Amino acid sequence: MAIDFESETAVVTGAASGIGRKTAERFAAEGANVVVSDVDADGGRETVERIESDGGTATFVETDVSDGGDVEAMVAEAVDAYGGLDVAVNNAGIEGETDPLAEVPEDAWDRVVDINLKGVWLCLKHELPELVAGGGGAVVNVSSIAGLVSAGGVPYVASKHGLVGLTRVAATQYAADDVRVNAVCPGVIDTPMVDRAGDADPGAIEQFVGMQPLGRMGTPEEVANAIVWLCSDEASFVTGTAYPVDGGYLAQ
Ligand code: NAI
Repeated sequence: MAIDFESETAVVTGAASGIGRKTAERFAAEGANVVVSDVDADGGRETVERIESDGGTATFVETDVSDGGDVEAMVAEAVDAYGGLDVAVNNAGIEGETDPLAEVPEDAWDRVVDINLKGVWLCLKHELPELVAGGGGAVVNVSSIAGLVSAGGVPYVASKHGLVGLTRVAATQYAADDVRVNAVCPGVIDTPMVDRAGDADPGAIEQFVGMQPLGRMGTPEEVANAIVWLCSDEASFVTGTAYPVDGGYLAQ
């Protein structure tokens, strides 16, 4: 079977909410042991309960992805719990502020870049050796349309572009080890992040959604479908891509 993660182990960061939660649930439904990682312990435990009540297997590890010690411990716990690592989805991220470039406070820049970009590098740094040790695997980094065009706040766009570059270099360095590394670039997806952005600037989200030719927001399930496919054997010759899941936004 092409999409089958039976007895494989998948770690999903930012899995307490939105795209990460749906991705964790989908991997569990496909048979994977899922490590639910997030800085939000209540939400993370709720994701585990949802998976277990559907008959799946999951464990929660409280992790701040911008902290190298936390990330190292997260990967070690995954390996201890399930004997190895086969799939990693580096999804945790924050939206940050949308101040004009010259008005972005330095600490606001640092916070977004630390979580969205350095956090993914830290995850890769600890995940990739485990994937190699297990004979190969697949990684998806969650970037954004803001990783390919200027569509968002300054640190957000910069961090998500950086993530595409990080994905490409990881894909080329680890291809010989049978590890595939891709990014997904979602458009506007109906999650708590977008609810918060809508509260802060009600017109902005409507405007973005209006620019998506399919004429609606995407759902977290639609992004999870793309992530699971990219991690599956059906995508066995796909690596180093920045794969849009954007209702056609980038096609214009
Ligand atoms: P969300 O806000 O619902 O979920 C993000 C999760 O990341 C939360 O559970 C949060 O606690 C966690 N998180 C935040 N900082 C963390 C940290 N330092 N360490 C560990 N976990 C942390 O947001 P959503 O929409 O599900 O976003 C998921 C990813 O998708 C993000 O990387 C976001 O940038 C990206 N994305 C979202 C889009 C959207 O329209 N919703 C569009 C394009 C990309």
